[in-house]
Amino acid sequence: MRDDVNPYVNKIKEESEYIIPCNFNKIEESEKLILDTKIAKFEGVIVEICSGSGKHLIEIAKKYPQFLIVGFELRFKRIYMTAKKAKKEELNNVILIRNDARNLKCWFKNNSISKLFINFPDPWDKDRWEKHRVLSNDFFNDLSLILVKNGEFLYKTDHKERFLDTKEFLDSNKLYKISEFTEDLYNSPYLENNIKTEFESLFLSQGLKINYLKAIRL
Ligand SMILES: C[S@@+](CC[C@H](N)C(=O)[O-])C[C@H]1O[C@@H](n2cnc3c(N)ncnc32)[C@H](O)[C@@H]1O
Repeated sequence: MRDDVNPYVNKIKEESEYIIPCNFNKIEESEKLILDTKIAKFEGVIVEICSGSGKHLIEIAKKYPQFLIVGFELRFKRIYMTAKKAKKEELNNVILIRNDARNLKCWFKNNSISKLFINFPDPWDKDRWEKHRVLSNDFFNDLSLILVKNGEFLYKTDHKERFLDTKEFLDSNKLYKISEFTEDLYNSPYLENNIKTEFESLFLSQGLKINYLKAIRL
């Protein structure tokens, strides 16, 4: 949808308590300052990228009140819906950034993030779309800098091929160690701690298996 006809472009500006709207191509120092000022009030930072309409992010915020939960999402309506949920739950530990998750390292200092969640990122299947994929080698290089030692990368997807590519990459990377792994989350011991996302419900209703892994930054 074009920005000039999308009502959520302006609506997200009404939610400045929760949303940093951002110019897509240029991150302002003043916007980084908003984030840094928030971060200073908490014990640590947890990030969710591609956070969609925020069901998972809101549950994480409730589970870890001593952490600032930072969401990255591109779609205006989805980020607005997340802000509305945070407001309804009166959460003061949520901040949402409408920016490309591949800019992560511009927003955070080294050794500053305790956990990073990514649930069901768009797979961008065709080779010519590879440049759009969030989970690239560059992404994991950036993440290795901003995650704290023993920090966690948590990933769920319905896309088995992408999932196994990521597993292979992490297995061969000395900076990470996979500590939890399953190709069928709903028949695994990891289900107990699972928080179901909006897209997860959809994929389950289509009979798809959910892949899940956790990797530790060594
Ligand atoms: C399939 S949806 C999954 C949403 C949510 N995580 C869930 O599981 O319900 C993927 C989301 O990633 C967002 N997204 C795609 N590329 C992104 C990027 N580079 N940076 C931030 N968000 C992105 C999309 O706008 C979309 O909301």
